[in-house]
Amino acid sequence: MTKPVLINKKIKNFKKKITISGDKSLSIRWALMASQATGKSKAYNLLNSEDVFSTIKCLKKLGTKIIIKKKYCEIIGFGLNNFKYKKNLTLNAGNSGTLGRLILGLLIHCPHKVKLIGDKSLSKRDFSRVINPLKDFGANFYQSKKSSLPLYIQGTKYVRPIKYFETRGSAQCKSSIMLAALNTPGKTLIKAKKSRDHTEILFKQLKIPVKIKKKKKFDLIEVEGKQNFPAFNYKIPSDISSSAFFIVLTLLLKESKLTIKNVNLNPSRSGIINILNKMGAKIVLKNKKIYKGEKIADIFVKSIKSLKAINCPSSLNASAIDEFLIIFLAAARAKGVSYFKNLSELNKKESPRLTLGSKILNMIGIKTILTNDSIKIFGQPNIKLNKNIKIKNYLKDHRIFMMSVIAALSFGGKWEIHDRDSIKTSFPSFLTIIKKLGGKFK
Ligand code: S3P
Repeated sequence: MTKPVLINKKIKNFKKKITISGDKSLSIRWALMASQATGKSKAYNLLNSEDVFSTIKCLKKLGTKIIIKKKYCEIIGFGLNNFKYKKNLTLNAGNSGTLGRLILGLLIHCPHKVKLIGDKSLSKRDFSRVINPLKDFGANFYQSKKSSLPLYIQGTKYVRPIKYFETRGSAQCKSSIMLAALNTPGKTLIKAKKSRDHTEILFKQLKIPVKIKKKKKFDLIEVEGKQNFPAFNYKIPSDISSSAFFIVLTLLLKESKLTIKNVNLNPSRSGIINILNKMGAKIVLKNKKIYKGEKIADIFVKSIKSLKAINCPSSLNASAIDEFLIIFLAAARAKGVSYFKNLSELNKKESPRLTLGSKILNMIGIKTILTNDSIKIFGQPNIKLNKNIKIKNYLKDHRIFMMSVIAALSFGGKWEIHDRDSIKTSFPSFLTIIKKLGGKFK
């Protein structure tokens, strides 16, 4: 057990340029797809975090050759459906829902039972959302509990394409089915509520036969399986979800400025920029470019006099799903009452984030009205904190830890924040960057 982080001083204003580590969604997808390609793929700036290490460990157990060098990671793929399945194989997805759900899509052919396990937080999360459609492809599942880990998957030689309707706006579900479709003869049809589209973009880049029709609320995706594709290199851009903590920190200070270089601003991920700009921020994107179908830009953010409340359109939910905790903190300092709705998925993350986010705001002294899927936040632009606040027992959710550190540095008070190790899953350099910006903690 590591010691809690203690913070009892606000951070001073800053004017800085920072670099944020590689995008987690892209890092995991690159590794999974490289394992299915033919030949040597290389990734530069692959995120160095536990969720990505878990991905690499699982792929190695499945016989994929992976070499990690200082500057890049190399994966040697043997083409579609070429995993080597030893008997009694256990794959550990650690804390990662993305890995746990996506890898199941690649296992629908496994001849023996493969066991999938995860940490305490992942073992509480719902897997029936991918089990049910993967059963339709022909895979078999065995579990002790109805919808969670640990589970066993046993595939079949006789996979068949499916029609699948994804209604939650979950990119993990959509992508798991797309990966299963990749290894299935015939056409799989997916109707999916809008969610991040990195898998679709990668499929297109790799010239995998995929047709996408974008409708207003849904996308129609058709994947034709069983087409091998060559190895591919990737320079992973910075993660907007990690950048988000520093964007909001800058907005909560006075006279501060921050530049974050080369961030992935795929519109299906950049909802936080729209939301904060609707709240009065003036975040500017410069040096925009397209890299392998993904939008990349540098982010410029500076403090403003005061943020205003937002009635957040639900259409932005999916594109900001991992950023709501830090957005709630911005709303806590905004003028007026903010309202976020149709957010039941937020309670299905590494921890019940809607409930815990509200609880932390209440500890700070911010009034909230919470339901199963919505929150009203009564902002206080001039709030001054002198209380002791202890953040403990939140299933080691990395984003709860980081939200709490940002709250401590910008609201004041005396904070004891447990489970500093949680950041290793997504953003190990978080506290180093806090120090670089002048944040003091023990
Ligand atoms: C992710 C999708 C989202 C997100 C997660 C990463 C992905 O989950 O919360 O952190 O890489 O596909 P859902 O698909 O469950 O919404």
